Amino acid sequence: MIKSLRGMNDILSEDYERFTYFIDVASDVAKKYGFHFIETPLLEETALFKRSVGESSDIVGKEMYQFTDKGENDVCLRPEGTAGVVRAFIQKKLDKAGGIHRFFYYGSMFRYERPQKGRLRQFHQFGVESFGVDSVYEDSIMIMMCADILERCGIGYRLQINSLGDSNCMPQYRDNLVSFVKNCEDEICEDCKRRLDTNPIRVLDCKNDKCQKLYENAPKLINSLCDGCESDFTKLKKVLDDNGINYEIDTNLVRGLDYYSKTAFEFVSDNIGSQSAIAGGGRYDRLVEFLDGKPTPAVGFAMGIERLMELIVMPESSRDGYYIGAMDEETVDLVISLAHKKRKTDKVTIDYKAKNFKNHIKGADKANAKYFCLIGSNEIDSGEITIKNLDDKTEETIKIETF
Ligand code: HAM
Repeated sequence: MIKSLRGMNDILSEDYERFTYFIDVASDVAKKYGFHFIETPLLEETALFKRSVGESSDIVGKEMYQFTDKGENDVCLRPEGTAGVVRAFIQKKLDKAGGIHRFFYYGSMFRYERPQKGRLRQFHQFGVESFGVDSVYEDSIMIMMCADILERCGIGYRLQINSLGDSNCMPQYRDNLVSFVKNCEDEICEDCKRRLDTNPIRVLDCKNDKCQKLYENAPKLINSLCDGCESDFTKLKKVLDDNGINYEIDTNLVRGLDYYSKTAFEFVSDNIGSQSAIAGGGRYDRLVEFLDGKPTPAVGFAMGIERLMELIVMPESSRDGYYIGAMDEETVDLVISLAHKKRKTDKVTIDYKAKNFKNHIKGADKANAKYFCLIGSNEIDSGEITIKNLDDKTEETIKIETF
């Protein structure tokens, strides 16, 4: 038997209901915040991710589904959504047009990671990206929007925030950190040794316990911010305080992608095991320029839908639509025609098999139908059908042609 590839799952039945429920809620919230839907291709030039997510990141260094296509192009399946949205933004010349552009998207992302609970090779993100707003208030709005989506889905969270500084303060901090880590270079893991040469601040989120212990006394980014970054971080905290959004400051939160500066944040859940990050994002003011666009401030986040699935509290599903059953073989044709007519406006479940009342009611319950009607020879003779409301048990008899 051919099975799906490791870390790549089917989504069907009840999972699919949760999945679409989440997309509906998240899209509704994003629209309320003034965001517009965008869809970008699953496949992009590999160079796009190398230049944006960064060659030093695990995503680009180890996890890309990269291959040469039949036209000899070096392409890869997108490991995340931001780079493609930025490419589209520049390609459509929206950077040159100026103004504010806000997008939301959802779809499959691909990372060749070691599969485990909450970590897949094909997973789904819901993400938002905002271009053209050079104000930390936009960052706070992003965080509030993400919190709104989680709250509407009944999902508890812990929010962690940090500031990564900007081109004024980050280089000095990086030098201080490198000096600190060089003092214990013999004891750090091989990944951190590599990070020292490529992107030193990534050592801070190394998962190796020994490294974490060594870095406990490392200089803190938050203590090295320039006046502008410090004042922005203070404003961000105030807006979150004013709006009742609890947060923790995590000075080691540096995010796994290279494009961030200033605000970085992650939402985590304590109820889903070790892969606890349910959403993450931040400001990326340099990325549009890195990808040859006109310098444009930007900020965004993405949520991992599979990690949210088991946390979503679905509203109690109410009965909906019609169930029409045939009482004998001769009435099946009429059942099909009536369902065809009714489906212009309502959800209709039918059963072609002639069955008795008890079995049809079971079918209506399974379909969670609100209205129930059966068609047999009596109905054909009288030209009337009785529709039962399965919620309040009332009945109404109507002419078949008015159904
Ligand atoms: P990220 O933190 O790499 O950020 O991914 C966002 C979310 O995707 C994570 O918090 C997690 O819930 C989910 N996720 C990541 N990898 C996996 C996996 N292998 N299996 C299941 N879920 C996963 C980004 O991707 C950025 N593009 C977010 C962003 C948007 N920043 C600015 N704008």
